[in-house]
Amino acid sequence: MARLGVNIDHIANIRQARKAMEPEPIAAAVIAEMAGADGITVHLRQDRRHIQDRDLHLLRQIIHTSLNLEMAASEEMIRIALEVRPDMVTLVPERPDEVTTQGGLDVASQFEEISRSIKALQKGGIRVSLFIDPDADQVKASHKAGAECVEIHTGIFAAARDTEKEQEEWERIRDAARLAAKLKMGVNAGHDLTYLNVKKIVEIKEIQELNIGHNIVAHAVFVGLERAVREMKALVSD
Ligand code: PXP
Repeated sequence: MARLGVNIDHIANIRQARKAMEPEPIAAAVIAEMAGADGITVHLRQDRRHIQDRDLHLLRQIIHTSLNLEMAASEEMIRIALEVRPDMVTLVPERPDEVTTQGGLDVASQFEEISRSIKALQKGGIRVSLFIDPDADQVKASHKAGAECVEIHTGIFAAARDTEKEQEEWERIRDAARLAAKLKMGVNAGHDLTYLNVKKIVEIKEIQELNIGHNIVAHAVFVGLERAVREMKALVSD
């Protein structure tokens, strides 16, 4: 049974659109946990476009489940992570002009920098996951770099517009998940997952946790956050 990590960045997006006090991401985290979320995920971006440092510090004090911090492998972010001590850090590639994270890390080509970051975080007692594309070489490089976990990018699968391409991408995700599990790594997945496409990803038994944000918050606008999380949780733990 897979766990559900709820990404609350989009709650902060609404707040930051007006530079206002509301909606409060901390309240969203509490409601998500009450509705069955197994963890809360936030991405502290270098441009602070949604989640703020203050949110991260408060979340660390308030949530009862597990805090997953997505971040770039920069010196500033590593310093913040070591101060806040989330349960897990997921290292992601970050470009200032992107609307959302575009694809996974190229672990092999940044091997030294990523390995160094992983070691620094692990020394602080933080488990480290790497967000990667469903690719055997990236899984192997993540393992070699010392990461305990990978998060497999599901964005290409979600964007597929015909069943053949969708099946092809699903098989890539399944194979990457199997390889990571064989290497005794934790296996997460996420990006662009929805109430419709998540069922197929849940069929991959090696995947232990799904991180989902945008579609839950989009649904919550109409049905409320508690119901939106409950409905996703039911699909993920099916
Ligand atoms: N996983 C990672 C690494 C991400 O960067 C994001 C987006 O912040 C997500 C999962 C969640 O993606 P979505 O908002 O499309 O569900």
